[in-house]
Amino acid sequence: MSAAHSVITIDGPAASGKSSIARLVAQRLGRTYVNTGNMYRAMTWAVLQAGVNPQDADAVRAAAADIVFESPVVEGKTEVCVSGRTPTEAELNSDPVNRAVSFIASVDEVRDRLVAEQRALAAIGPLVMEGRDIGSVVFPESPHKIYVDASEEVRASRRGAQGRADQIAERDRIDKQRKNSPLVIPAGAIVIDNSHITLDQAVDQVIAALQLS
Ligand code: DC
Repeated sequence: MSAAHSVITIDGPAASGKSSIARLVAQRLGRTYVNTGNMYRAMTWAVLQAGVNPQDADAVRAAAADIVFESPVVEGKTEVCVSGRTPTEAELNSDPVNRAVSFIASVDEVRDRLVAEQRALAAIGPLVMEGRDIGSVVFPESPHKIYVDASEEVRASRRGAQGRADQIAERDRIDKQRKNSPLVIPAGAIVIDNSHITLDQAVDQVIAALQLS
């Protein structure tokens, strides 16, 4: 069995700023950055490409079973490759994917596969992994857990400033209410509210809170 390296887990709701924070924390600490939202987005993109209705769980299950999923490390972060194609950032963040991703992410078989993939990534080296259930389900034994939050107004205005339409309230509702691995503040996590601080300040707070020796 390969070694499981330490994982800093960063969870939080949509558009909370956790991706930007996690990427910079990983850079500052020389760790590999893993964006698990992109894994669920890539799976969603591939399922939509196959012409499947994202709300039809049986059809999603069947389509997902045929998808070959890989996470190569490129320049300090993992990329997502589905059946030989790496969807672009624009494809991963498109309106159809935003609308469908929470449905795809609530299908047990999809979660089981991606959680196994996420756990296996610990073999490549020390990670910063962000998502919804990383501290609660994927690596609950991690001593380094962060939960990033921001007010709903701030989160909506950040998405707007990125020029992206995203039903964040609706995605949060589904992500928090699903039976399998809902979004929660993991036991032992330090909560950082970044509604009124800069990105650099948030990164400093996370690194200070982790008390890495
Ligand atoms: O982080 P994000 O907004 O790009 O994530 C997109 C969706 O993926 C999110 O609405 C729910 C799902 N997701 C999940 O269920 N579990 C994770 N660990 C990460 C994302």
